Amino acid sequence: MVSIKTQVGIVGAGPAGLLLGQLLTEQGIANVIVERQTPEHVLSRIRAGVLEKGTVDLVREAGVAKRMDREGLRHTGFDIAFSGKRFRVDLEKYSGGSFVMVYGQTELTRDLMEAREASDMSSYYSAKDVRLRHLTTQKPEVTFDSNGENISIECEYIAGCDGFHGVSRKSIPSDVITEYEKVYPFSWLGILTETPPISDELIYVNHERGFALCSMRSPTLSRYYLQVDGDACVENWSDDHFWDELRIRLPPGDTSNVVSGSSIEKSIAPIRSYVAEPMQYGRLFLAGDAAHIVPPTGAKGLNLAASDIAVLFKSITLAIKEGRTDAIQRYSEVCLKRIWQVQRFSWWMTNLLHNFDNNPFSYRMQLAELDYFTSSESGLTAIAENYVGLPNPAVD
Ligand code: APR
Ligand code: PHB
Repeated sequence: MVSIKTQVGIVGAGPAGLLLGQLLTEQGIANVIVERQTPEHVLSRIRAGVLEKGTVDLVREAGVAKRMDREGLRHTGFDIAFSGKRFRVDLEKYSGGSFVMVYGQTELTRDLMEAREASDMSSYYSAKDVRLRHLTTQKPEVTFDSNGENISIECEYIAGCDGFHGVSRKSIPSDVITEYEKVYPFSWLGILTETPPISDELIYVNHERGFALCSMRSPTLSRYYLQVDGDACVENWSDDHFWDELRIRLPPGDTSNVVSGSSIEKSIAPIRSYVAEPMQYGRLFLAGDAAHIVPPTGAKGLNLAASDIAVLFKSITLAIKEGRTDAIQRYSEVCLKRIWQVQRFSWWMTNLLHNFDNNPFSYRMQLAELDYFTSSESGLTAIAENYVGLPNPAVD
C-alpha cells in the first residue's frame, strides 16, 4: 500500500473535478484527482455546449480561458420555433446585457486537462476499485488500485465529482440521503455533423411530433437533436431518417436551409431530473452530476456543475487558508437553493417543448403558453434571465 497525503482529494476528472483542481492549484492548495477512465475515454464523450456567463467567468478565473475566448461563439439570443414560425428571444435585451458562450464541454475538458498536465499536481487515470473511507473523521481517505498498486490518499476534504454513476454519492449512508427523481417518457437522439449550422443561433423546436434542437459547436460543426421514444435504439435511426424527421419538425421556411451530411457521432440520452439532498457527509462534498441531473433542455448540466464548483472552491479555500469552516458547513444548503431553481427552469422548458402524451389538448396548452411568454416583456425576461444563468451564490 502506497500512502499519499494531500489537502483535497478529487474523485472524477469530468469538467467538475478538473475545474475544481485547477482553481485550487491556482490558489496553491494541494490536490489529487482520481479518475476511473482513461483521458481518451473522458474526451470521447460528447456533451452539451452552452456556457452561461457565470461559467465563462469561472473558467477565466481558473486561467484556462484562452482558447474558449478565441474560439467560443458569443450568443446574445436564441430562437423558439412553434406553430410553424420562429421567435427570437433576445437574451441581451431581456437579461440586462448578458450572453451565453457556445463552446463544447469536450473542448473545455481538453483545456482543463492540458492545464492539469502543465501543473505539478498528480492525477491518476484508469483507477480501479475507488473507495472512500473515514468520511466523518478529520482525515478522510480515497483508496484505489493503480497499475496493480494499492494507493491510499489521506485528505483534509474530498470532492465527489464522479458523475451520476460514481462511488461518492453511494458512499453516503442511505438513511442520510433523500433522492428526488423524475424520469421522462422520451429520450434525445443527438448527431454531430461536419456541416454548417442551419442558423447563427440555436433553435429550440416545439412540434406536434416531438421536440427538436438545432445547435452547433462551430461555424462548420453542427449538433442536432430529436425527441425519440424512451425505448428507441440508435441502430434504428439512419442518418437519412434523422434528417427527414428534422425537416418535418422545422418551420416550413427553414426546411430548405438544413445542410445534411453523414453523422460523425450519434447517441441517445435518457432524460431525467434528479436531486440528492444533502450534498455533504462529514468531509465529503458532492458536486455536479454526482448530486443532480437536469434534462438537457436549457443546457444547464455543465453550468450547474460549475456553480457547485464555484461555491465548493471558495468554501474549501476559506477553510484551508483562513481556518473558517462556516461556509463549508453550509455548502449543501447554499448550492441546493440555486439547484432547485435551475431544476425548475429545465423542467419547465422540457414541459413546454416536448410531446408527452400525444394529446391535442396538451399541445394547445403548450402553444398558449408559448404565445403568452413570447408576447410578454416579463415572460421574455423570465426566460432570458434563467437561460443566461441565475447569479452564483455568494460565499463570504
Ligand atoms: N471513481 C473515479 N472516477 C469516477 C468514478 C469512480 N468510481 N465513477 C465515475 N467517475 C468519473 C467518470 O468517468 C467521469 O469522468 O467521474 C467523471 C464524472 O464526470 P461527468 O459525468 O462529466 O460529471 P461532471 O464533471 O459533474 O460534469 C457535469 O454537465 O453537461 C453535463 O452531464 C453533463 O458531464 C456533464 C455534467
Ligand atoms: C448542445 O449543443 O449539445 C446543446 C445545446 C443546448 C441545449 C442542449 C444541448 O439545451
